[in-house]
Amino acid sequence: MHIHKLEKIWLTIGIAMLFVFLAVLGVSAFAMGVKPPSEHHHQIDPAKVKETAPFDQPGIHQTGEKRFEAVMTAFTFGYAPDAMEVPVGSTVDFMVTSQDVVHGFEIPGTNVNMMIVPGEVSHVSHTFTQPGTYLILCNEYCGGAHEFMKTTLIVK
Ligand code: CUA
Repeated sequence: MHIHKLEKIWLTIGIAMLFVFLAVLGVSAFAMGVKPPSEHHHQIDPAKVKETAPFDQPGIHQTGEKRFEAVMTAFTFGYAPDAMEVPVGSTVDFMVTSQDVVHGFEIPGTNVNMMIVPGEVSHVSHTFTQPGTYLILCNEYCGGAHEFMKTTLIVK
C-alpha cells in the first residue's frame, strides 16, 4: 500500500516536471525567437539588399595597412563582386549577406566557412599569408546551379 502510494506521488512529480520543462522550453523559444542571439549578425531586409548600404555597392576596399573590407552579396547563383584582389599578407574582413535563400561561404584551404542567411549580415576575417587564387564557394544546397556558385580572391 505504502509503495503503491509512493509510486503514484513520484509518477505525478515526474509528469509535473515534464510539463514544467516543456512550458519553460516553449516560453523561452517564443520569447527569444528561434534564432540564437549573436553579436556577429545584424539584421537587413533581404528584399532590399541592393538598395541598402553598403550592399548597394559590393566591393573590396582598403581600411588600413594590409587590411581590407570585402562587402559581398550572395544570390542564386553567384556572389558580388565576382572577383577581388589583395596583396599577400592582407587581412580581409568579409561582410556578407544574401539576397534570397540560405547560401554558404567557404574558402577551401582556410578556416573560413560560414552560412549566409537572408536577413542577416555575417562577418568573418582571414589573413592571407600565401599568394594564390582563392575560390569562394557555396556549400549550402541552394538550387539547380548551386555547384557553380563561386567567386575568387586573388592574393599576390
Ligand atoms: Cu548558394 Cu549553394
